[in-house]
Amino acid sequence: MASISTRIGNFTLENPVILASGILDETSGSILRSLKSGAGAAVTKSIGTEERRGYQTPVISEISTGLLNAVGLSNPGIDNFVEEYKGFPEKKRTIVSIFGGNTEEFVALAKRVEGAKFDKVELNLSCPHVRGVGSEVGQDLDMVEEIIAEIKGGTNLQVWAKLTPNVTDVVALAKAAEKADAYVLINTVRAIGVEIYSRKFALANIVGGYSGPGIKPVALRAVYDVYKETRKDIVGVGGITTWEDAIEFFLLGAKAVQVGTALLYEDYPIYSRINLGIANYLESEKFAKLGDIVGVMV
Ligand SMILES: Cc1cc2nc3c(=O)[nH]c(=O)nc-3n(C[C@H](O)[C@H](O)[C@H](O)COP(=O)(O)O)c2cc1C
Repeated sequence: MASISTRIGNFTLENPVILASGILDETSGSILRSLKSGAGAAVTKSIGTEERRGYQTPVISEISTGLLNAVGLSNPGIDNFVEEYKGFPEKKRTIVSIFGGNTEEFVALAKRVEGAKFDKVELNLSCPHVRGVGSEVGQDLDMVEEIIAEIKGGTNLQVWAKLTPNVTDVVALAKAAEKADAYVLINTVRAIGVEIYSRKFALANIVGGYSGPGIKPVALRAVYDVYKETRKDIVGVGGITTWEDAIEFFLLGAKAVQVGTALLYEDYPIYSRINLGIANYLESEKFAKLGDIVGVMV
């Protein structure tokens, strides 16, 4: 059987399919469920310094090609998070997503995560719908560079930088984030939904993030552009539902993928289905291992 194990930074994953941040990962129990169902690793919901309740409803709206969401980064805050994950058995396979409004907040959060015995963080530099954090921070190249340098300098954490596609030049952003151990591409695409009979916006926040099958070509383009210029480790995310989708990302340079919106439709067997499809594809196309197809089209 062809090997589907992969390596992101110094982290070896048994398989390349990872649970994306924000979908069915609000508790340690739901993270464990994904890991036990065949995910190679899982990313937590983004955690900030304080508890946040998020926006008024509606926070999610379904459209034919995916989802619009403006949940508003609701999260328990780092204190409650650390408490909940005491004794959690899967810290090596869990990547803690953090968000902040400035370098100090990011660094303080990263130190708490390391203190709680996790060894990897994903920096949410990309949430498109909350003022003062996420992509508002993540579009500021100097701040991105500083946040990553300070976390790398002040901790032993592996750092994954999750970048926003809502910029003109994603490569410039990636270069600002080059001290990260890996890039995660992409977060949701800024978007609006309209209800024509009520003449209201689909989301209470008006602007939200677009995810699901419709954004896959945008994510593929970001992975291609960044891999071509940097050759760094990339985790591809955006619209992945089938093993064929995952293969497309590998061919353009991703070494692993994350699955978000599809989980809401396909449920937990999705991990094993995608993994089996990848292994069968490698076998039938006569590749010995996943690494043999990474970036071959770039
Ligand atoms: C309901 C919802 C909540 C999300 N919350 C987060 C979050 O807290 N942090 C983050 O970095 N990304 C968040 N995302 C973005 C996803 O992790 C992912 O980047 C995006 O949805 C594209 O992947 P997909 O098409 O497979 O869903 C969220 C997405 C959705 C749909």
